[in-house]
Amino acid sequence: MRIFSGIQPTGRKHLGNYIGAIRQYVEGQDRGDPAIYCIVDLHAISVAWDPAELRSNLYDTTAILLASGLDPDRCVLFRQSDVREHTELCWLLSSVTSHGDLNRMHQFKDKSSKQRELVSAALFFYPVLQAADVLAYRAEEVPVGEDQRQHVELMREIARRFNERFGEILVEPDHRIPEIGARIMDLQDPTSKMSTTGGSEQGTVYVLDEPAAIEKKFRSAVTDSGQGIVRGEGKEGIANLIEILSVIRGLEPSAIEEEFASAGYGDFKSAVAEATSEFLAPVRERYSEIRPDEKALDEVLSAGAERAAEMASVVLDEARSAMGLGPGSG
Ligand code: AMP
Ligand code: TRP
Repeated sequence: MRIFSGIQPTGRKHLGNYIGAIRQYVEGQDRGDPAIYCIVDLHAISVAWDPAELRSNLYDTTAILLASGLDPDRCVLFRQSDVREHTELCWLLSSVTSHGDLNRMHQFKDKSSKQRELVSAALFFYPVLQAADVLAYRAEEVPVGEDQRQHVELMREIARRFNERFGEILVEPDHRIPEIGARIMDLQDPTSKMSTTGGSEQGTVYVLDEPAAIEKKFRSAVTDSGQGIVRGEGKEGIANLIEILSVIRGLEPSAIEEEFASAGYGDFKSAVAEATSEFLAPVRERYSEIRPDEKALDEVLSAGAERAAEMASVVLDEARSAMGLGPGSG
């Protein structure tokens, strides 16, 4: 089973990224043949960015992934811009991508409405590059959070169109969205997802937050004026905390509801804060050991890029040739 996923180099990865995506990456290492994980710096330049910050954020994200348990001996971990095949395949796929489909992408609508200066063509093309990321490896499975469902649907559609026209060259991938924790919500606004850009600072728990900060954020989490540790209508805040604790403890949400049946909100919030703190502490500690050695991080990334390019170039050669590009073989 070939597994592929991508993550943006935003440096400040949060609990939603960890629960929705990173923990699945780690789990995928043992099933992946191989598991391929890409830090998508080319996607990051679709909105305003600072070049020096981008490079530094890329190291941050690499170190977070390694600290979370990615092992370069058991997966392929690399930087997107190191493997030129992604951008080339993006252009090839754009010829079978419908403009109307791109116009329907929720993420494009959200992000374009938030740009203050330029709404770049790159932002519009973002899902085509994402399709190229996955299709260049003939990956079968794409671990992501709920917000990426539409992008994975689109890459399936692109692969289907490409194959209808040029032969069975690409593989239609399936998403792997976790049953619990696919959409962790902002602690201050439990009706919107936890996010690096759109969310509130106080409602976003970062993987690298100190225990005191984590406790403060959970203590001030917005809930409701009722009582009862249960999921349901009007209980989005409590439901979000139940999901978080259920993932951390590896239990069903209903088991959490039973355990806290007679607890008040204050005690429940403290329990979630403590569990989250303990859960993230080892990652934060390993991160502080790994992050300073940028040379070692570069070595990991370039070894990964070499393996990735080897795989992607096979697919690119076939795609180019089937499309009538370059010299013929006879
Ligand atoms: P990004 O940081 O946007 O590259 O996201 C990396 C991964 O985290 C993607 O697979 C997202 O679907 C996932 N993700 C982002 N936000 C959340 C969230 N609030 N809950 C669960 N998963 C998320
Ligand atoms: N768009 C994804 C996100 O914002 C990141 C991403 C880029 C990705 N390329 C990918 C995810 C390929 C899965 C597969 O989270």
